[in-house]
Amino acid sequence: MQPFISLLAPQRDTSSPLYLQIANSLVSAIRSGHLLPGSKLPGTRELAKQLKVHRKTVIAAYNELYAQSWTEVLPQKGTRVARNLPEIKAKTWSKEPDSSFEGTITVPFYKMPPPSPFTPMHPVITPHLILDEGIADNRLAPLDLLFREYRSRLKHSYTNRTVQGALAAGSPLLRESLVPYFGETRGLSIQPSNILITQGAQMSIYLAASLLIRPGDYVLVAEPNYFLANKVFEQLGAKLLKIPADDQGIDLQAAEICCKKHRISMMYVIPHHHHPTTVTLSPERRMQLLELSAKYNFAILEDDYDYDFHYSSTPYLPLAGSKHNGRIIYLGSFSKLLSTSVRAGFMIAHKDFIDQVLRLRVLIDLRSDHLLGDSLAALINNGDLARYVKKANKIYHHRRDKLCELMDQQLKGAVNYKKPDGGMAVWVKFNPEYPLKDISVRASAKGLYLSNGEIYNTEQTSYNAVRIGFASLNTKEMEEAVQILKQAIFG
Ligand SMILES: Cc1ncc(COP(=O)(O)O)c(C=O)c1O
Repeated sequence: MQPFISLLAPQRDTSSPLYLQIANSLVSAIRSGHLLPGSKLPGTRELAKQLKVHRKTVIAAYNELYAQSWTEVLPQKGTRVARNLPEIKAKTWSKEPDSSFEGTITVPFYKMPPPSPFTPMHPVITPHLILDEGIADNRLAPLDLLFREYRSRLKHSYTNRTVQGALAAGSPLLRESLVPYFGETRGLSIQPSNILITQGAQMSIYLAASLLIRPGDYVLVAEPNYFLANKVFEQLGAKLLKIPADDQGIDLQAAEICCKKHRISMMYVIPHHHHPTTVTLSPERRMQLLELSAKYNFAILEDDYDYDFHYSSTPYLPLAGSKHNGRIIYLGSFSKLLSTSVRAGFMIAHKDFIDQVLRLRVLIDLRSDHLLGDSLAALINNGDLARYVKKANKIYHHRRDKLCELMDQQLKGAVNYKKPDGGMAVWVKFNPEYPLKDISVRASAKGLYLSNGEIYNTEQTSYNAVRIGFASLNTKEMEEAVQILKQAIFG
């Protein structure tokens, strides 16, 4: 046996095909000098015998090496390592030692404001369990079906033939599929030209706000609010007018007082399960909001990120489905519905607005992943998505109740909360004698990540509250997480 053969040993229990493992090991042997340029490789029959694999596997490995120019094939003589190896080594052009990205930056650049005026979140190194702020369970989402669709499209010739510009607004197939889908699920009457596919709802917020806000403009938001939406508006130079909210949602009388004082450009609302408080905007407030927007002519950015998950009641149709003369920009996300890793969101607005947003979007992202878009369209059209939404609603409903039950049993006296109608998280307020900041550090030491809630605090208010996501944990994980939390609270 030639000495390098002991380095090849392919593993049968990994997902990597055997032929690639053999090819990669041969490349490593060449790189490390165990196999020298010009040296002869064993015949395929012989190597197959030594490695105890099928000869076709070795032929495939040799073909792979040849395709990558690591080998040469000589007629009658077999395969040998190429004399000119295909490694590209860049030439040095400076006598300076390798420079790095260390040291002080001397050019001026804009510094982003810190994430919170308060202490930064403590670092957590690979926690054993995570109490997130409300994300879907990857294990339930039909990601295997989605990526099977994706895979089947990889080699499809139309991938290369689609005119690039036509993809700037997102996959045409997805935009077409969303027309009947949003008609059925949300009562929206739209055309593909009203839809823009983005990399998630966050990108939709940023793009829409960029066209609605100029520095110095007034923007109405609920207090507390989804912190990253506030950051976007502030980054664009907006002055935020923070409106209190109760269990019916944002206080529109307080909003009207602001409208009388200032010219308002935009109001940001999360009508279902407001982030962070999970309150749903009541039908009366929805009517008042539409009237206010018409009276003072401001835009409404309707973030319906959590629309699909409802347990105690059915959802309300979006504000965007009512008559609004193009004042409403509606947005949502597949990232919330399926998995945070599936980066696909949507914006629905008047065609003229979408046309303008498109011009901005191509400056930061030429187009969204249209293969992903086409794959999502397939799941919508064959009913897989609707089936998943039904299944997830049933499971998340159970998980919401389980989390509430566990908190009632184990965290009694330390927390209070209102069971949300839907969504993926509960807004949990800790009693003042139990500072979340300390609890989060103690939980972290026990392997549980829990946000310290600082991101919601303002200079005036410390909420001592956090969103606790229930969707991503199964019963066993949730029981363990609450048990650790209990120890972190009561010691
Ligand atoms: C209210 C709200 N809107 C938008 C987003 C952004 O979602 P995406 O992951 O789709 O960008 C989030 C994410 O947490 C959110 O909570």
